[in-house]
Amino acid sequence: MERPYIICHMATSLDGKIIGDYLKVERAAVFTEVYEEIHERYGSKAWMCGRVTMEEHFTFGHKLDLKHEDILPIPRTDYVANKNAESYAIAVDPSGKLGWTENSIESWNEHRTDDHIVEVLTEQVSDAYLAHLRKIGISYIFGGKEHLNFTVVVQKLKSLFSIDKLMLEGGGFLNGSFLNEGLIDELSLLLVPIADGASNSVTLFETSSFLNKANPVNFSLKALEKLDDSGLWIRYVTKRD
Ligand SMILES: NC(=O)c1ccc[n+]([C@@H]2O[C@H](COP(=O)([O-])OP(=O)(O)OC[C@H]3O[C@@H](n4cnc5c(N)ncnc54)[C@H](OP(=O)(O)O)[C@@H]3O)[C@@H](O)[C@H]2O)c1
Repeated sequence: MERPYIICHMATSLDGKIIGDYLKVERAAVFTEVYEEIHERYGSKAWMCGRVTMEEHFTFGHKLDLKHEDILPIPRTDYVANKNAESYAIAVDPSGKLGWTENSIESWNEHRTDDHIVEVLTEQVSDAYLAHLRKIGISYIFGGKEHLNFTVVVQKLKSLFSIDKLMLEGGGFLNGSFLNEGLIDELSLLLVPIADGASNSVTLFETSSFLNKANPVNFSLKALEKLDDSGLWIRYVTKRD
C-alpha cells in the first residue's frame, strides 16, 4: 500500500489530556510554541486535523449560508484544485460542516507556511457544499459512502497530492480513528509537566459511536529529549511485530 509515513504529533498534560485548564496555566504557553517548533522540524508538507479542531482554531464556528435550490447533482469523485501546493491542511469533515471562505489557511506563526485546504468527506455531503468548495477552490477527497476509511484516505493523499509524510495533529477522536486502523507510524508526544485532573476532557486517543475500540498498540522508544522547564519530547515508533 502506497501511503505517507504518519506521525501523530500532540501535546498532552501528564494525565494525557489534550485540552483543559492546564493550557491556561502561564507556563503552558511555552510548550505551545515548542509544539510548533517541533512541527517544523519534521519538514512535512501536510498536516491533518478533525472537524472540531478546525472549527475551533480556523473557521471559528462560521456557518455557510448555502443555497440548495438549483444546484445540479455533483458526482462523488475527488476534486484536486491544487496539486502543487507548498503545504496542505487536511480537514476531516465527513458531512461538510466547516464554514471555509478561502481555499487556504494563512501562515499564523513563523513555523507554518500557507496551506492549501483539502477536505476529507463522505458521500453524504450535500451538492451545495461541494459546489461551494469548487467555487472557492478547495480540494476534496471522498473517504467512504457513509463512514470514513482512513486507509483509503491516506492512499489518496499520496497518489493525488504526492504527500509522503503526514502530521496527524488531533484531536483525540481523529487520532483514535487512525490508531484503530493501524495507521500511526510514529508518536511525537510533547509532555507538558502539569496534571490537569479533569476526568471529562479529551485524551490523546479516543473512541466513539463511529469507532470501534482499537486493540492496544505497542510502541518502542525512538528518542527522548528533555525540554526547558521540565517538559519532555518523547518519540515512539509503532512496534509492528
Ligand atoms: N493538545 C494538542 O496537541 C491538540 C492538538 C489538536 C487538537 N487539540 C484539541 O482537541 C480538541 C478537539 O478534539 P476532538 O477529539 O473533540 O475533535 P477532532 O478529532 O478535532 O474532531 C472530531 C470530529 O472529526 C470527525 N471525525 C473524526 N474521526 C472520524 C471518523 N473516524 N469518522 C467520521 N468522522 C470523524 C467528526 O466530525 P463530525 O462531528 O462533523 O462528524 C468528529 O466529530 C480541540 O479542543 C483542540 O483544541 C489539541
